[in-house]
Amino acid sequence: MSQPETIPVKPEIAANALVDRARYDDMARRAAENPEAFWAEESKRITWMTPPTRIKNVTFTGNVSIKWFEDGVLNASANCLDRHLATRGDQVAIIWEGDDPGEQKHVTYRELHAEVCRMANVLKSLGVRKGDRVTVYMPMIVEAAVAILACARIGAVHSVVFGGFSPDSLANRIQDCDSSILITADEGRRGGRKVPLKANVDAAAKSCPMLKKVVVVKATGGQVDMQDGRDVWYHEAAATMPLDCPPEPMNAEDPLFILYTSGSTGKPKGVLHTTGGYMVWASFTHQYVFDYHDGEVYWCTADVGWVTGHTYIVYGPLANGATTLMFEGIPNYPDTSRFWQVVDKHKVNIFYTAPTAIRALMRDGEGPVKKTSRASLRVLGSVGEPINPEAWLWYYRVVGDQRCPIVDTWWQTETGGILISALPGAIDQKPGSATLPLPGVKPVLVDGDGNVLEGATEGNLCLADSWPGQMRTVYGDHERFIQTYFSTFRGFYFSGDGARRDEDGYYWITGRVDDVINVSGHRMGTAEVESALVAHAKVAEAAVVGFPHDIKGQGIYAYVTLVAGEEPTEELRKELVMWVRKEIGPIAAPDAIQWAPGLPKTRSGKIMRRILRKIAANETDSLGDTSTLADPAVVDDLVRNRMA
Ligand code: PRX
Repeated sequence: MSQPETIPVKPEIAANALVDRARYDDMARRAAENPEAFWAEESKRITWMTPPTRIKNVTFTGNVSIKWFEDGVLNASANCLDRHLATRGDQVAIIWEGDDPGEQKHVTYRELHAEVCRMANVLKSLGVRKGDRVTVYMPMIVEAAVAILACARIGAVHSVVFGGFSPDSLANRIQDCDSSILITADEGRRGGRKVPLKANVDAAAKSCPMLKKVVVVKATGGQVDMQDGRDVWYHEAAATMPLDCPPEPMNAEDPLFILYTSGSTGKPKGVLHTTGGYMVWASFTHQYVFDYHDGEVYWCTADVGWVTGHTYIVYGPLANGATTLMFEGIPNYPDTSRFWQVVDKHKVNIFYTAPTAIRALMRDGEGPVKKTSRASLRVLGSVGEPINPEAWLWYYRVVGDQRCPIVDTWWQTETGGILISALPGAIDQKPGSATLPLPGVKPVLVDGDGNVLEGATEGNLCLADSWPGQMRTVYGDHERFIQTYFSTFRGFYFSGDGARRDEDGYYWITGRVDDVINVSGHRMGTAEVESALVAHAKVAEAAVVGFPHDIKGQGIYAYVTLVAGEEPTEELRKELVMWVRKEIGPIAAPDAIQWAPGLPKTRSGKIMRRILRKIAANETDSLGDTSTLADPAVVDDLVRNRMA
């Protein structure tokens, strides 16, 4: 199949879009020339209790300080709810589609407002105050969005933990932010199976003495143990609560949420986002990137446990008064036509998913797609990992019938929202490229020494200046924030990604350049998987790298050295995979485990991951220089015994 170089914006799309090329150029110019004026104007998309007069106050050097709209006062939940009541109180805010295709709910803005107030009052009655951290460990049910907004309403800082994480991972996150209250459900549902959320909370709580209250939403009605004095059924506590709860006035720089994400070293870090800049960014990017028009149905398939769910299921769409769809299930249950059936059923106009889902569905061919209409679709989006041109074109031709522009959106937990993406009516698309920066975003490519590279080139992707949605710190560890993001290349925020820029200035993200792997669009630190492996009694040492995987983008490849005397059996291999699943969660399960009698190390004892990555990728004829190894013979053994 020949691949078109560029797919130009269609005139009929540009004509109806919020932003066409001329407007994009104008916005980009104004944002570059006078960021203060540009963002002062854009801040008006948010309803402030006290509008900001100080717009931007940022330094990327020294102690790194990032402040936007710092004298403004607002409430995020009021922006998502209260301000819409007069104009669209009876409009559907959330369409919920159950795992079971027979189940759905429509929740209006008025109903959502009432429910958020009830949950906020429950939290208050349990002693939650402004600034307290509330852990949210929920399935994809409406109450997950309610919990998030209820925290925001009373000024509590939510820390959502993805429902697929293990009790241990959950416990680490509760401990790190010293959270005394947690909101969960009895069970979740995914692909016809139950996820024992409350039981996981009970297991996590054993190592979390700070956890004083657990609010449990009855979702499936499954059997759970309730601990007297600690556990509270949400429906019982809510029954007597008033349906009104005034939104807490928050300073723009008051924390809104913490979200843990994996880095190249150590434990996951608590990415901290604050209120004003994040809300402006969520609203701005959701409106323009998806060209959201009033009345449209918008569906982001992410889980609320990831940043994509925070910004593009909850805050962005609700701030913009959109109808946002929340899907409890998975793409292939009951069958691989499910996404498109949901699109037809709810007349979805804008659809946002991850390349891994597209690649998985491609395997089944066009049949499951083509038996649906998808006539309502207007814009398609991609997020989480590089989308290969083949998957891009399938998405474009088969799913979108060559009618819908694709926005490939590059961003990170740390960036709060999208930074590089096409705009449907403004930017000609190139399959596989995230295209151009949004107005106000200043990407730079730098070489290993921090020199800025000009023109068509390839390098480390940094941002030369701040944008309102940027993370402010690592919760409880500002030094780690500076070290991780601002110490590699002085004066720049370093993303950890590599990118190429072509002659048209388009960005092509090449993937992580650090020890983070991207499995099905989820970030996993190799160090985390390694420490899980070595926690097993039979493992002496482990080294983990990513390798190219057809569906997942990257898979997890582990080299394991056993304790002397242990037999490397098939059973033990399976046991170790199960062990990592249990320690971290299913997303961390290694795809391959190779027994390694020795690991390639330098004479100073440093593992040479470059070589391990090559072996895992089956590029063994380009291993490079191995002469600095303490024992070059270990490499021959690893190459000989490579996993098929
Ligand atoms: O490597 C990039 C990749 O995902 C990383 C961020 O992961 P996370 O914080 O979990 O957020 C995922 C959702 C925004 C980035 O460092 N990534 C994300 N979007 C893209 C991408 N890589 C290529 N193209 C994208 N569109």
